[in-house]
Amino acid sequence: MMKINAFINLTAVFMLLVSGVKAQFVLPALQYSYDALVPHIDSTTMRIHYSNHHRTYVNNLNAAIDRHPELKNRGLEELLSGITAIPADIRIAVRNNGGGHYNHSFFWMLLTPKQTKPSLKLEKAIVSGFGSMDSFKAEFEKAAAARFGSGWVWLIVSDGKLKIVSTPNQDNPVMGDAPEKGVPVMALDVWEHAYYLKYQSNRGAYVKAFWNILNWDRVSDLYNAYR
Ligand SMILES: [Fe+2]
Repeated sequence: MMKINAFINLTAVFMLLVSGVKAQFVLPALQYSYDALVPHIDSTTMRIHYSNHHRTYVNNLNAAIDRHPELKNRGLEELLSGITAIPADIRIAVRNNGGGHYNHSFFWMLLTPKQTKPSLKLEKAIVSGFGSMDSFKAEFEKAAAARFGSGWVWLIVSDGKLKIVSTPNQDNPVMGDAPEKGVPVMALDVWEHAYYLKYQSNRGAYVKAFWNILNWDRVSDLYNAYR
């Protein structure tokens, strides 16, 4: 029961983060220590990724919004879904840093040192959509390998179906001009800053390690909430 409540509370925190009215965006607290995901993600990468990269996105997003105080009552998801209408002088900053803040906040929530597995409902949907769990993983890994340069791979719900998509840079499927929009239920950061210290150029090994630390309970929770 405590476990279920913890997940519900974390989902609520994320929903507040992306939809709530805030004067300033803040770096959300990590729910685990920097070394919690060792050996799959090393503690130095976690520390730099969270406390340097993510913090910089938050700071730069706040600096951009400071230049247009009329946007201060908007939540993060509202800013991103309305990205094409953001004033031109800060549109790229909001896209890159608002996207970076959204994507990383989402990503941290999807990682855990605990062993988890998908709910029956989610597993059924994955098998129905991709043939088998192994085929789904293979397709996700292929999309991660195919993303040239920096970006993200996502599992989204679109028109009621699960779909794997990838986005460049800090773009994501909730952005108003995303070519493939949907509700994210899972994501993987494939920027080199996410894996280079441990895996160097071997993105494939990092992606395979991701399955060991993916919080399937969280993915199931998100799928159940939106489906
Ligand atoms: Fe990242």
